[in-house]
Amino acid sequence: MSWMVPLYPWIKALHIISVIAWMAGLFYLPRLFVYHCEVTPGSAEDQRFQTMERRLLRAIMNPAMIAVYVFGLLLAGVPGAVDWAEGWIYVKLAAVLLLTGAHHAMGRWRKDFALGRNRRAQRFFRIMNEVPTALMIVIVIMVVVQPF
Ligand code: HEM
Repeated sequence: MSWMVPLYPWIKALHIISVIAWMAGLFYLPRLFVYHCEVTPGSAEDQRFQTMERRLLRAIMNPAMIAVYVFGLLLAGVPGAVDWAEGWIYVKLAAVLLLTGAHHAMGRWRKDFALGRNRRAQRFFRIMNEVPTALMIVIVIMVVVQPF
């Protein structure tokens, strides 16, 4: 993988660009669920929320998540990029797995709304809205400060 060394800053730029797109979706989709809870199932508003949620997930979040993984794994494969004896990378990867779990959970909740069978309360989505924020803070501190 040493041929990738000169490309490293470009791969990192693409990694950060995809991270921003993924995070934007992870922040916004649960916010849409919070408002979606307030509308009558089957109404025109319900349909509009369903369209917004489906497009956000399919057109932005799914491709962005895949791009984060592709560019992140390429970075990790560049010789010398990561010191695997340090702890921060494992904390980062664990937080990334939790973000991926949150992404898939949101996909299930979207489907529940689309099938008119959401039973979760608005408060649940308000709490879930904070999960990607907390994980993002952990990840950025791990990659930038590398505290251990
Ligand atoms: C499979 C998932 C991921 C892998 C394998 C991965 C791996 C990496 C690697 C190896 C680096 C370079 C570290 C360095 O140069 O010191 C990096 C940089 C970075 N990653 Fe990830 N990453 C992943 C997901 C994420 C996610 C989900 C976020 C944010 C929420 C993120 C945020 C960043 C940031 C901000 C940098 C730039 C740090 C710097 O200035 O060097 N990454 N990533």
